[in-house]
Amino acid sequence: MGKNVLITGASSGIGRCTSIYLAENNYYVYAGVRTEKDYESLKSEHKNIMPIYLDVLDEKSIQKAYEELKNKNISLEAIINNAGAVIGQPIEYINLEDLKYQFELNTIAPVAITQKFLSLMPKGKIINISSMASTGIFPYISPYCASKRAMDILFNSLSIELKNDDIKIISIKPGVIKTPIWNKSITRNKARLEKLPDDFKEKYGKELLALSENANKNNYKALEPQKVAQIILKALKAKKPKSSYCVGWDSIIVCQLAKLPQDFLNKIIRLRLKSQT
Ligand SMILES: NC(=O)c1ccc[n+]([C@@H]2O[C@H](COP(=O)([O-])OP(=O)(O)OC[C@H]3O[C@@H](n4cnc5c(N)ncnc54)[C@H](OP(=O)(O)O)[C@@H]3O)[C@@H](O)[C@H]2O)c1
Repeated sequence: MGKNVLITGASSGIGRCTSIYLAENNYYVYAGVRTEKDYESLKSEHKNIMPIYLDVLDEKSIQKAYEELKNKNISLEAIINNAGAVIGQPIEYINLEDLKYQFELNTIAPVAITQKFLSLMPKGKIINISSMASTGIFPYISPYCASKRAMDILFNSLSIELKNDDIKIISIKPGVIKTPIWNKSITRNKARLEKLPDDFKEKYGKELLALSENANKNNYKALEPQKVAQIILKALKAKKPKSSYCVGWDSIIVCQLAKLPQDFLNKIIRLRLKSQT
């Protein structure tokens, strides 16, 4: 008999790959999508995947998805908070709507999903797809870093406050993974940056170009999303899961680097930025 999991943001990348991988490993996957096209395409991937409309920024959509599972008497084994996006802009000029969106999607929505669906999970695991970026060491994508760190802090607190050893909270921290997230981020941020004054372009232009080039490289030099799916399965199956899993060498190294004294670390980061521009 399979176990039920709910995953948000299953249309592409890590979410889609994990949905398929868990389905192949005898889990029943309630896979959150936002379009009919994604619904149909995921449905045809595997009989154990049950797509469900779920926009994590829309209260009504969350309520509807919750009622759908509740009416079917679904008891969840795991909630996987995966939906997310990357905002990368210099803080001096960052568009504040984008900054709010970053926190709404990456930080607040996982809390909203957890608050709603936890009652369907008497025991099990909340698995959050955080990032090595949660260490906060990457300038220009600091909105992304901060949103992931904030999510980790909130859920660490939840793990203590719940006073329930039957609910485990796990943060997955992938390094760079080959998914559409980087191209989406380039497109979104480029549109914003083009509208900015010339003195801004002069001040940050080189770094932002390097940032885009790096994001482009991520499309081919990175790990496959399957690696993340494998770690998620490992965490799901573990009797005593760790509270945090790094995925990839880059993540392991970055998590260690982040322990260096801040001033020293900032010097290294500035030197690296200089060498890239
Ligand atoms: N790729 C990496 O290098 C990397 C590394 C570390 C962590 N991560 C994290 O992994 C997670 C998945 O990202 P990915 O790399 O697989 O990128 P992705 O392919 O772009 O997937 C993002 C997913 O989030 C969904 N989403 C966006 N807004 C949503 C909303 N309002 N409601 C519901 N779903 C929404 C997207 O759905 P739509 O198609 O409907 O927009 C999509 O399914 C993210 O949290 C990301 O921060 C990624």
